[in-house]
Amino acid sequence: MNKLYLASKAPRLSVLKFGSSVLHSTADYARIAHEIYRHVRTGEKVVAVVSALDGETDNLFALGEDVGHHADGVGIARLVRCGELKSAALLGLALERAGVPTAVLDPHEMDLRAEGDPLDANLTGLDRAKVLARFEQADVIVAPGFFGDTEVGPVTLGRGGTDLTAVMFAHWLDADRARLIKDVDGVYTDDPAKSPDALRFDQLDYQEAREVSRGLVQDKAILAAEDLGVVIEVAALGRSYETRIAKVERAPAQTREVQRLRIAVLGHGAVGAGVCDYLEAHPNRFDLNPVLVRDPSKHGANHAERAFTATPEEALAHQPDIVVELMGGTGFARCLCQSALRDGSDLVTANKAVIALDLARLDSLAHEHKRHLRYSAAVGGGTPILELLDTLTPRETVRSVEGVMNGTCNYILDALDGGALFADAVAQAQALGFAEADPSTDLDGDDAADKLAIIAHHAFGQIPDLRDIPRESLSALPPERIEAAREADLVIKQIGRCSLGPDGKVEARVELRALPRMHAFASLRNEANGFLIECSDRTRYLKGKGAGRWPTAESVFADIMDIQRARAGNAPARQDLADDPMRLKQDLAS
Ligand code: NDP
Ligand code: HSE
Repeated sequence: MNKLYLASKAPRLSVLKFGSSVLHSTADYARIAHEIYRHVRTGEKVVAVVSALDGETDNLFALGEDVGHHADGVGIARLVRCGELKSAALLGLALERAGVPTAVLDPHEMDLRAEGDPLDANLTGLDRAKVLARFEQADVIVAPGFFGDTEVGPVTLGRGGTDLTAVMFAHWLDADRARLIKDVDGVYTDDPAKSPDALRFDQLDYQEAREVSRGLVQDKAILAAEDLGVVIEVAALGRSYETRIAKVERAPAQTREVQRLRIAVLGHGAVGAGVCDYLEAHPNRFDLNPVLVRDPSKHGANHAERAFTATPEEALAHQPDIVVELMGGTGFARCLCQSALRDGSDLVTANKAVIALDLARLDSLAHEHKRHLRYSAAVGGGTPILELLDTLTPRETVRSVEGVMNGTCNYILDALDGGALFADAVAQAQALGFAEADPSTDLDGDDAADKLAIIAHHAFGQIPDLRDIPRESLSALPPERIEAAREADLVIKQIGRCSLGPDGKVEARVELRALPRMHAFASLRNEANGFLIECSDRTRYLKGKGAGRWPTAESVFADIMDIQRARAGNAPARQDLADDPMRLKQDLAS
């Protein structure tokens, strides 16, 4: 990335810790990725500290005993840390699939130092600059918990030691939160699994937390947090509330149930099938209606466990709480989006064509019927460009937004730059699930124009008439122009740009531009998207995976989860996380 384009202000930082209690099988890495993405899309950087899969550490201790027969702690520590190393690598892979820019770092790559008993050591230092530097390219750093390095090799931090890793990282990196994600949504007066009347605490003093949490949070971690003034949050996956452990008065609270939601999914293509996978992985949260498709038998053959229908009434039966429109097109899909809101459902869609055409009307229907309307995936795939625009303060007035915003065109141009044939590159983008049902929508710049219109709404509060957005077609790009660009060491990209004209109206265009290879957009490979947001005080740069099943499904699913939290009454419809760090900072200061 060209450093000229990097934002100057330090981003907010969260340390999230995922213990073995939320890691029962490899399927849980996708759940953890959802939780991390929820923070990333509010503009936070995340250090994800991860434990081994449930049972793995015990197995490794037993294995060590079996082979080593009362081996010394140093040898055992070297073995048992492997559970965390493996877990961190697996989480890195899950985040990569979801399109979240991630770096996985082992302790020696961060100079994470420890001292003490090899099986019950303490952390003593971290190369802060080394860790923070990795955030120039990544939104998430995954670190294995539970161990650190000494002169004589790796040592572990005792049972529950990943809690201590998280607290120490939060301290050394001056993070805005240290959130320990457990299989319960906070600290209770009693074990809530055994005592249904147990009360969850909203907040606890450190000393009380040590007495009440009965090992839920590692004792050493609480002591370290108290000593260093780190506020600990104890929370469950997908919740916006927590028990806060700080210098505070104890405050009990009733437990809050997650409301189970009925979901109608319309469309089971590249995106819809991924979203259904995510919904079905959360059977306690969602009931899924038969999925609307044109040809149920085709889909049933590959997904025997899932119900399909070609009848909209069946797909929309039982008054769904959320309608998730993933069909594409502006005819039938547009009608269904409007009727969903009118009939009292919340609406999540990835359909930029419908949003670009109909946003004002859909917004007003949502307002009139007090429903949520969310469409994060419509622009940027898994790249949270709309969220970023929404979080800018009035001081940060946007002057222009430009970007590579069509994954298919970027994939094709990248392939052409590498010498591929145009027809082969288009066919490959279709096979990978990046292209629209009619790929000329991508090639002719219509898809980018739709996205620009939506961006303009979020940046300038205006939706330009789509007919006023000139666009240059990739189909009309002569091969000689690509060749000439290559010879001049330039790379051609499809760029969408919008800004305010002298008359205060949005000016937008989609063009094919030859860029120097040092330009931030030139390094975007395959289906990547990238955006430069020029504000009055600085220019921000954002990139990510702009198309494809998993990044897009991640974004759609995040919208669904946001709505579920909002419906449970513990978060506003838009992401609630942004406010919390300030609250924590104030607490730390007091
Ligand atoms: P696909 O073409 O892969 O899937 C569309 C699905 O909708 C199919 O299952 C199809 O059924 C169903 N469908 C379409 N029309 C009808 C109809 N009239 N009646 C019933 N079912 C219908 O599309 P994608 O999954 O790629 O895209 C879905 C939406 O997400 C689009 O709006 C797209 O712009 C947007 N999007 C896509 C991204 C991507 O990377 N693919 C990224 C971001 C947004 P059947 O299979 O039976 O034909
Ligand atoms: N066809 C679109 C693209 C999908 O390639 O960018 C993501 O919006």
